[in-house]
Amino acid sequence: MSFTPYERPVRAAFVGLGRIYDLNMRAYVDNPDVEVVALVDPSDERREQRQRDWPHAATFASAADLAASGLEVDTVEALLPIPLHADGVVELLGHGWHVNLQKPMCNDLAGAQRMLDAATANGRLLRVMENYLFYEPLRKIKETVESGELGEISGYHMKMVGTGRGGWDVPASSYAVQAQQMRDGRGILVFDDGWHKLATAIWLFGPIKEVRAWIGRTEIVPGFDIDAPSTIVWEHDNGTRGVWDITLAIDMYLRSDYYTNDERWEITGRRGYARVNRCTGRGVQQPSLEIYRDGEMRSYHALDDDWASSFRDSGRHWLRWLHTGTGPMLWSADEAVNVLRFALAAYASSAAGGTGVDPASLN
Ligand SMILES: NC(=O)c1ccc[n+]([C@@H]2O[C@H](COP(=O)([O-])OP(=O)(O)OC[C@H]3O[C@@H](n4cnc5c(N)ncnc54)[C@H](O)[C@@H]3O)[C@@H](O)[C@H]2O)c1
Repeated sequence: MSFTPYERPVRAAFVGLGRIYDLNMRAYVDNPDVEVVALVDPSDERREQRQRDWPHAATFASAADLAASGLEVDTVEALLPIPLHADGVVELLGHGWHVNLQKPMCNDLAGAQRMLDAATANGRLLRVMENYLFYEPLRKIKETVESGELGEISGYHMKMVGTGRGGWDVPASSYAVQAQQMRDGRGILVFDDGWHKLATAIWLFGPIKEVRAWIGRTEIVPGFDIDAPSTIVWEHDNGTRGVWDITLAIDMYLRSDYYTNDERWEITGRRGYARVNRCTGRGVQQPSLEIYRDGEMRSYHALDDDWASSFRDSGRHWLRWLHTGTGPMLWSADEAVNVLRFALAAYASSAAGGTGVDPASLN
C-alpha cells in the first residue's frame, strides 16, 4: 500500500488500558511526534485511572463509541486481551486507523490473514510491536554477532524460567485470559511470552527452515496449567541452530519490577561467545551483557537494561516511522506472521512426537 508520512504530530488512541499500558505509554510521554487524543476501555476504573496521564484525552467505553464520536484519530495503540486481537484489529483498521498491536499477533494463520486483508482493504498499516528488539543488551549482542568478533556463529541457546514469586501485580482477568489461551493450546510460556524469544531468533539469524519441539504442561491449580517443561530446537536457513529451554520454578522468588521471568541468550561462535544475562526480571545480577574471546571477558555495566525502556523505544520507533515511512517497522504484519508460523511449527512438531516441521509448510 502507499503510505504518506505525517508532517504533523499523529493523533493517537490507546485501546485497552490494562497492565501493559503502564509500559507502552512511555513512548508517548514528552514525544512531539504524537498527541494522545483518546483512551478506550470498557472498565470505568481503568479509564479514570489512565485519564490522569492524559487529562485532555477523551475517554470511551468501546472503539465503536470512539469512531461514532467523530473525533479524528490517525493511529491506535492496541493493548487488547489476546483472544480479541483478530476481531479487534479488523475493527480498528475498519475505522480507518493505523494499528500498533501487542504480541502475540493472534492464535492462528486464518486470523492473521483476516488482519492482513483488513489492512489492505482499508489502506492502513498494521504493526505488531516487538519490544525485545529494542532492548539494548539484545541490540548489542546482535551488533557483536554481525561484527564478526565471535567468529562464524556455531549455535545459540535461550533459557527462560517462569517463576511463581516476585514481580508486579497482574490482574486476575489476565490469568483468566491465559487459562483460556492454554485450553486453546496457546500457553503463556511458549506462545505468549515465548513469542518474544521466537522473534529474537528470527531477528538475529533470519528465516527458519525446520522446528522440532517437545511441549509439556504442569498443573498449577485445578483448571490452570502452564506449558512447561518445554524444549524447542530449530535450524535457520543459514544453517545456524538454536535451542530454547523453558522451565517452571513455581516456588522460586525472582526479583523483578515487572513479570517474574528469568531469561538468557547465549550465542557461541568459533572464537568466543556472548551472553545476555537477563531481560524482564533481575535474575542474574551481573552485567546484562558479557562477551568472551581469547581468554578475556568483557562486561557491559552501563547499558540501558531496564526492560521498560524497550517498550519506550519500540513505541517511539513506530511513532517516528509514521513520519518517515522508511526503514524496518520491527515488525510489519507480514514479518509477524513468520513469528506466528514459527510458534505453530513448534506445536505441530510436538503433536507429531518431535519430528521436524518447516514453518512455511503450514496452512
Ligand atoms: N510485550 C510484552 O512483553 C507484553 C507483556 C504483557 C502483555 N502484553 C500484551 O498486551 C496485551 C494486553 O495485555 P495486558 O497484560 O495489558 O492485559 P490486561 O488484562 O491487564 O488489560 C487488557 C485491558 O483491555 C481491556 N479491554 C477488554 N476488552 C476491550 C475492548 N473490546 N476494547 C477496549 N479495551 C478492552 C480490559 O478492560 C483491560 O483493561 C496482550 O496482547 C498481551 O499479550 C505484552
